[in-house]
Amino acid sequence: MKRPFAELSGTGSYAPPRVMTNDEFSKILDTSDQWIRDRTGIRERRVSSKEESNACMGKAAALQVLEENGLTPMDLDAIVYATASPDRLLPSQACDLQAILGAKNAAAFDVGAACSGFVFALNVAEGLIASEQGKNVLVVAAEKLTSIMDWSDRTTAVLFGDGAGATLVRPVANSKGRGILSSYMKSDGTLAELLYRPGGGATHPPSPELLTDHSYYIKMAGREVFKAAVLSMADACDQALQRAGLTAGDIDLLIPHQANIRIIEATAKHAGVPMDKVYVNVDRFGNTSAASIAIALDEAVKTGRLKAGMTVMFVAFGAGFTWASMVVRW
Ligand code: ACO
Repeated sequence: MKRPFAELSGTGSYAPPRVMTNDEFSKILDTSDQWIRDRTGIRERRVSSKEESNACMGKAAALQVLEENGLTPMDLDAIVYATASPDRLLPSQACDLQAILGAKNAAAFDVGAACSGFVFALNVAEGLIASEQGKNVLVVAAEKLTSIMDWSDRTTAVLFGDGAGATLVRPVANSKGRGILSSYMKSDGTLAELLYRPGGGATHPPSPELLTDHSYYIKMAGREVFKAAVLSMADACDQALQRAGLTAGDIDLLIPHQANIRIIEATAKHAGVPMDKVYVNVDRFGNTSAASIAIALDEAVKTGRLKAGMTVMFVAFGAGFTWASMVVRW
C-alpha cells in the first residue's frame, strides 16, 4: 500500500474564556512579564474553571469536527485521545469522552506521549484507517495542565495553559494528493526524569507526604529540556521531509509544538522554513502540551492561513522524551 491512506477532515478547538496575563503571575510569584516574554514568548494563557473538565473541553472541540463532517457521534469508529492531564486516572479520558458524546460504536483509548501526543495520535489513527479498522477516527488532544502544575514554582507555572483541539482522520476521498504524506515518531525514556510527575502513580501512591512535597506536580529541568527539544525537533523535521520526498521549500505552513518561541525559531531555522510560514500562538496560549498543535491547526484553518492544497508540517517534542512529525497535504 502506498500513502496517502488517510486525510484529516475538519478541525475544532476550545479555549477556556479565562485569560491569565503574565502580570497576574508577577503578583503571586517572583517573576515579571518581561522575563516571561523574553525567555518564552508567552504573554498570556487560558485557565480552565472547575466546570471545564478535560472531557468538556475535548467534547467542545469534537462537536465542531463532527458538525463540519456532517457526522453524529454514532458514526465514529474510534476515538484516540491525547492528554497528559486526564480528569481521572482510570478509565481513559477517551472513554469518558465517548460516554458524554454518546459515541456508542467507537473504540476509545488514550495515547500518552505528552506534548507530542497529538502527532502520535494522528499516527495511530492513520494506522487504524490503513488497516481498515474504521472509517471515522476522531482524534482529540486536550489538556487541563493548570490542575497538575505547581502554582508556587515560577520555573514551570508560567509556562502552561489549558485547551483542546480535534480533527477527524478518514480514508482519502478522491485524493487529489490530499492526506498524510509522511510521519515520524521517536522516544527516549532514559531521559524521563528531566520532565515528569514523580508522585501520584502506582509506585508513589497518594500519601500524606505527597500532599506537602508537591511531587504530583510537573517537574522540569528547563535548560536540558530546551536543548533536547531543539535537537529532537530538528531531527523530526528532517525525517518527515525526507520520508515525504519533499524539501523545506515545499512546506506552506509549519505548525510546531508551542512551548517556547525560541525553540520554535530554532526549529524553523534548522528546517529552512521562514518565520512567515510558521504558525505561532504560544504568546496567547502558553504551552498546552498535546493540545498545542491541534489548537494551532484549527486556528490556521479558520483564519485562512491553511487552505486546501497547501502542504503543512507538524513537529512536536515532549515528556518521555517523545518527538514526532507529520507532513499533510491539506
Ligand atoms: N521568572 C523569573 N526568573 C525565573 C523564572 C521566572 N518565571 N523561571 C526561572 N527563573 C530564573 C531561574 O531561577 C534562573 O535564575 P538563576 O540564574 O539565578 O539560577 C534564571 O531565571 C535562568 O533560568 P533558566 O532555566 O536557565 O532559563 P531559561 O532561559 O532556560 O528559560 C525555560 C527557562 C523558559 C523553562 C526554558 O528552559 C524552556 O523553555 N525550556 C523548555 C520547556 C519545554 O520546551 N518544554 C516542552 C515540553 S513540555 C511537556 O512535555 C509537558
